Amino acid sequence: VVWLSYTFNFIMTLSIRKVSHIYVANWFFLAMMIMITYLHVINSLALPVDLFKSYSIFAGVQDAMIQWWWGHNAVGFFLTAGFLGIMYYFVPKQANRPIYSYRLSVIHFWALTFGYVWLGAHHLQYTALPDWTGSLGAAISLAMIIPSWGGAINGLFTLSGAWDKLRTDYILRFLIVSLAFYAMSTFEGPVMASKTVNALSHYTDWTIGHVHAGALGWVAMVSIGAIYHMVERLWGTTMYSIKLVNLHFWMATVGTAVYITAMWVSGIMQGLMWRAYDDYGNLAYTFVESVAQMHPYYAMRAVGGLIFFSGACVMLFNVTVTIRRAIANPSAKMAVAANI
Ligand code: HEM
Repeated sequence: VVWLSYTFNFIMTLSIRKVSHIYVANWFFLAMMIMITYLHVINSLALPVDLFKSYSIFAGVQDAMIQWWWGHNAVGFFLTAGFLGIMYYFVPKQANRPIYSYRLSVIHFWALTFGYVWLGAHHLQYTALPDWTGSLGAAISLAMIIPSWGGAINGLFTLSGAWDKLRTDYILRFLIVSLAFYAMSTFEGPVMASKTVNALSHYTDWTIGHVHAGALGWVAMVSIGAIYHMVERLWGTTMYSIKLVNLHFWMATVGTAVYITAMWVSGIMQGLMWRAYDDYGNLAYTFVESVAQMHPYYAMRAVGGLIFFSGACVMLFNVTVTIRRAIANPSAKMAVAANI
């Protein structure tokens, strides 16, 4: 109900717009709303057997396929399309420049929207699914580098000729580094989707590293940039401490890098240990031995996560003080607002 109300409100807001054009960020938001609704409805189709019990209409391998069609598109349309909408609005706003190429953003939108729905099978390589579905998933995943990088380049090149802004504008740094992580995780994803790499990476911490490159590096960083931008606009003020924004930026970047590096090393080591055989054809390592080897990397992962989390606490403090000061001193608000 919340989701449908949100979608309805968004569509009705678009319908009463004063200009005929709909900016590309809104296209991404709309794609997210429509696709997430569609995915949930199809994935939840069930036959009721009594008042409180029902069974999914899909069974066995079809059920697995539908669930990963849902699962991957939840990433594609929520964690990607939704946050690309944020990127297309906030990067030009914070940089105070138009998006590098509007034409590229439209190509990015349609290629991403039509491409993403074919990828789910790459989560089910080497399972009971027909082999060709995994190959199709891998092939389209590879093709997805094109729209994904088109979008990342579009965001990054918005700063063409104004890269110096990054030296002083720490909020912009969040937005730009998030795009670098987006580019990285959308390069890594297609590599992991290929059958050869997936044979090693599947079930290991490599997947966890990939997830966090996307979740911390891309989704969180672009959201943090957007939140700082909005706090300044909504309360008509500047951040209480720009140095703390910079500190947060480094904590978020270093925390993410430490976290994902630990997971890459641990994941590749897991994969190699699980597939190692001795001269007699027996597994060279027990599962427990592989778990014991993970210990230093899990410690490193905890440190990375802690650095990232502490950065978020710095942000909470900075934002709270900024808002409190803006509320306590409304006259300053108007003066600053005039300059934004
Ligand atoms: C072109 C873009 C991308 C492709 C082709 C891709 C591909 C993949 C592949 C192959 C896996 C591992 C499947 C497995 O072995 O189980 C995976 C896992 C995952 N990816 Fe991506 N990825 C992409 C972008 C992203 C982004 C941007 C995010 C986050 C914002 C993300 C979030 C995830 C998550 C959460 C999982 C874990 C799913 C699970 O097993 O529970 N991916 N992705």
